[in-house]
Amino acid sequence: MTERTLSIIKPDGVARGVMGEVIRRFESEGIRIAAMKMIHMTQAQAEGFYAVHKERPFFGSLTEFMSSGPCVVMILEGENVIAKNRELMGATNFKEAAPGTIRADFATDIEKNVVHGSDAPETAAFEMGYFFNNFEIVG
Ligand code: PPS
Repeated sequence: MTERTLSIIKPDGVARGVMGEVIRRFESEGIRIAAMKMIHMTQAQAEGFYAVHKERPFFGSLTEFMSSGPCVVMILEGENVIAKNRELMGATNFKEAAPGTIRADFATDIEKNVVHGSDAPETAAFEMGYFFNNFEIVG
């Protein structure tokens, strides 16, 4: 089934110069990029995006980090792309991420883990709508 999902290259990934490599991995798996832009979120914007995690102890730190520099936000499209993207990313904790995944290769701690990907169709719909309107999604 063709799906869409939101991907973010987080501020650590942009700062460390792995944007191109992350995008290459998506494209080499046949994933289509249906929308893409660079943004620098305010902390309030990051809090809105991660509102589901607002009770968690790391909420302040996570939203501060996500607003610390520019990110790349993308809509990825393809067969089972929600699960496929999460497979390419690897586990949230890079120490548990499978070899060859983006996080195993580039993450430096649990917070600076290079990429974000929606975890289900409902969250993908919310997350894509948070950053993109219909005119920004192509194809
Ligand atoms: S997930 O992706 O929802 O299954 O993962 P989860 O473990 O629930 O984590 C949600 C997001 O919070 C980040 N995270 C942390 N940030 C800072 N410190 C700690 N300890 C921490 N633990 C988890 C994690 O990277 C997830 O970010 P996203 O952007 O959703 O991948």
